[in-house]
Amino acid sequence: MTEQKPVSDTAATKVTLPDAQTVTSVTHWTDTLFSFRVSRPQSLRFRSGEFVMIGLMGDNGKPLLRAYSIASPAWDEELEFYSIKVPDGPLTSKLQHIQPGQQIILRPKPVGTLVHDALLPGKRVWFLATGTGIAPFASLMREPETYEKYDEVIMMHTCRTVAELEYGRQLVASLQDDPLIGELVGDKLKYYPTTTREDFAHMGRITDNLTSGKVFADLGIAPMDAGTDRAMVCGSLAFNKDVMAVLEGFGLREGANSDPKEYVVEKAFVGEGV
Ligand code: FAD
Ligand code: A2P
Repeated sequence: MTEQKPVSDTAATKVTLPDAQTVTSVTHWTDTLFSFRVSRPQSLRFRSGEFVMIGLMGDNGKPLLRAYSIASPAWDEELEFYSIKVPDGPLTSKLQHIQPGQQIILRPKPVGTLVHDALLPGKRVWFLATGTGIAPFASLMREPETYEKYDEVIMMHTCRTVAELEYGRQLVASLQDDPLIGELVGDKLKYYPTTTREDFAHMGRITDNLTSGKVFADLGIAPMDAGTDRAMVCGSLAFNKDVMAVLEGFGLREGANSDPKEYVVEKAFVGEGV
């Protein structure tokens, strides 16, 4: 067995070799949102939509880790993450200052329910997200299996403001010309971004736009049908709970890796007092 030597770096000191990954790029989207890419451990295999634990070395010399959806697809050479900046957040108050060349800790044990295996076969899949909940779908929208399994892919993303939608907007726009999956995506992907607290082309909560039928009318598509529609949900606990009720109203049932059904849910974060 080879000895594990400590690596020193500027962001975090003494990271043990196998779990240290190097930051390759960082993009700040708003005062509260940024994305970054890191090197990928050669041994890491994951299914698009899964999450891992990442972090930095804390001041006490212990790793400070949090759950993060991998925003890049399973075939990508690097790993991408899309992150909130919580002003006093133990991790993100530091992580938001990370620079290319610095290192983060990444525990290579991917898990999660937002995976194709957890859904029964269908014709249309709905990706329903608020805020940073778009991260697992940033992975799944770039995953060939998504377009092999479904005739239509509908990405609904809702944020308070227009600026908070920008990461998703640019990602969707880039897919059409993507040399690897552009052709597969074709016109299968329908993007339906909305805001709730700033004027925008389409507005309103995902729950309201589904129950009123506005999204079906705007996209010119048939309403949800449990026989053919599948859904993946990622947002706050309150959002997840309310969307689940809407989906159940359409006759969809919650599935899991071990018991695939019509929809699956994952928390985008664990809120205070919820
Ligand atoms: P924490 O002490 O962890 O959080 C402080 C408070 O900030 C929380 O109580 C909550 O009210 C708020 N908060 C935390 N994260 C968010 C968020 N993402 N959006 C809105 N409010 C938030 N975060 C991401 O930014 N990107 C991801 O891809 C992501 N994936 C996750 C996947 C899972 C399965 C879970 C459980 C969480 C995920 N999170 C993600 C949240 C993440 O684990 C941390 O909570 C976040 O990075 C903040 O860490 P912190 O130590 O700075 O603050
Ligand atoms: P709203 O502005 O009407 O609260 P947040 O930043 O609070 O996590 O919210 C992110 C987005 O999710 C906002 O657009 C917010 O709409 C929406 N949202 C929050 N809670 C729910 C919910 N329970 N059901 C549907 N949408 C929600």
